[in-house]
Amino acid sequence: MDIINNITAFQNVVYIFSSILFISGIKMLGKEDTAVKGNFLSALAMFIAVSVTIINVVNPLIVLIGILIGASIGSLIALRVKMTSIPEMVALFNGFGGLATFFIAWSEFNATPDNVFQYVVIMLTTYIGGVTFSGSIIAYGKLSEKLKIEKNSIITKLFTTLFYLSILFLIYSIGFTQLIVLPTDFFTILLILTLLGGIGFVLPIGGGDMPVVISLLNSFSGIAAAFAGLLLLNNVLIVAGSLVGASGLILTIIMAKAMNRSIGNILFVGYASSSSSSSSQETGEVKPINVSDAYLILENASSVLVIPGYGMAVAQAQHVVRELGELLEENGTEVKYGIHPVAGRMPGHMNVLLAEANVPYDVLVEPDDVNPSMDTVDVAIVIGANDVVNPSATEEPGSPIYGMPIIEVHNARTVFVLKRSMSAGFAGVQNPLFFKQNTRMLFGDAKESIGGLVSEFKE
Ligand code: TAP
Repeated sequence: MDIINNITAFQNVVYIFSSILFISGIKMLGKEDTAVKGNFLSALAMFIAVSVTIINVVNPLIVLIGILIGASIGSLIALRVKMTSIPEMVALFNGFGGLATFFIAWSEFNATPDNVFQYVVIMLTTYIGGVTFSGSIIAYGKLSEKLKIEKNSIITKLFTTLFYLSILFLIYSIGFTQLIVLPTDFFTILLILTLLGGIGFVLPIGGGDMPVVISLLNSFSGIAAAFAGLLLLNNVLIVAGSLVGASGLILTIIMAKAMNRSIGNILFVGYASSSSSSSSQETGEVKPINVSDAYLILENASSVLVIPGYGMAVAQAQHVVRELGELLEENGTEVKYGIHPVAGRMPGHMNVLLAEANVPYDVLVEPDDVNPSMDTVDVAIVIGANDVVNPSATEEPGSPIYGMPIIEVHNARTVFVLKRSMSAGFAGVQNPLFFKQNTRMLFGDAKESIGGLVSEFKE
């Protein structure tokens, strides 16, 4: 008995140490230059926590084999994944986290719990874990464009109905448990409805909103893990799960705020409907510019702000962008990169691409840092960005994106917009920036246009 008490006490001390490492690791993830170390620290914390947990399990060998298989598959996927496919990988990993808690809850149900509280926690863990699993698989399919099902199709409507049915069944099951022990058949229906409900939760949401959904599902997987920690009476699982749950939720809220949309609008309405009220049909004359003329202006600029967006990712122009930045600096120009929190299609999309191209972190600036001094910027080069520089967000109360914080490039002395046509961005609204006096449109693929500027500088 004493030995068991001593082991439990030892485990709890190590769990506290691991929790401190988790929190420090997450804090370090907040800055680019400490993010890699933060990731290692959190992984180390998890390794330590798992190592002490298996001391007193009945069959540690099975657990070790499981860890070995899981770690090998996970490492292989993580090593091979392209930077731009990381959100899809995160979606899958979230899903497997949800599946693990789903199985824990299922096995705890089979171990016949002895009080109502345990039953309720089992049902909540099953539900959140199951929805996270099947929802994440759908999110993965949508984000990777492997799954293309229309929002208004019969299949989507059927699964959406099953989602609402699963919620009703969960509530009914919880109420039922207050009266009698939950029959196994009843629980089996909950297991099936939960998995189908997860599909119905994500299926109607547009592909472009998937990063927000993935962040929310990430939060769910944390909450499910915290509940599983309650079931297994494992303190570190409760702490780690709560940290993931809270940080996922905070990220979801930050993303929704940066898009000036509510989480409800993202999950249940979608952009198409919100943008239908767009009044921004600005017309006017656009002033195109060619590469040679753009070069002449850039050659004389003393400060340049580069604003990358989704189009830079599409064109894979990040390497030529870095090259242009270096050439400008060699020419005596101060170069900064304005990074909008929702530029691109995933959190940190631009940071990841620029890091891949070895653009130093200290030249990346946020909208709040750069907007007040925008009138001192000689040239703002907008590379495949559209919504994140749309002045309607500040000037046009009727616009669907009104209120969304933007990078106010229209206040710079000259603006170059690099894109292929006049088509709208993700929000589907016209951009008055293109018609402003100080804007010049450099039409074409971003990689080719920047490549052209690089050649001009080299000549
Ligand atoms: P967008 O507003 O989507 O505009 C991208 C622009 O890139 C398009 O107008 C397109 O114009 C241009 N483009 C595409 N391919 C190009 C190429 N090869 N070369 C040059 N230009 C190209 O992008 P943004 O300004 O980055 O804004 C992001 C949007 O996505 C926001 O509305 C945001 O709310 C939304 N969103 C973001 C996230 C996250 S977490 N980042 C998640 C979900 C949704 P052309 O077709 O004319 O070339």
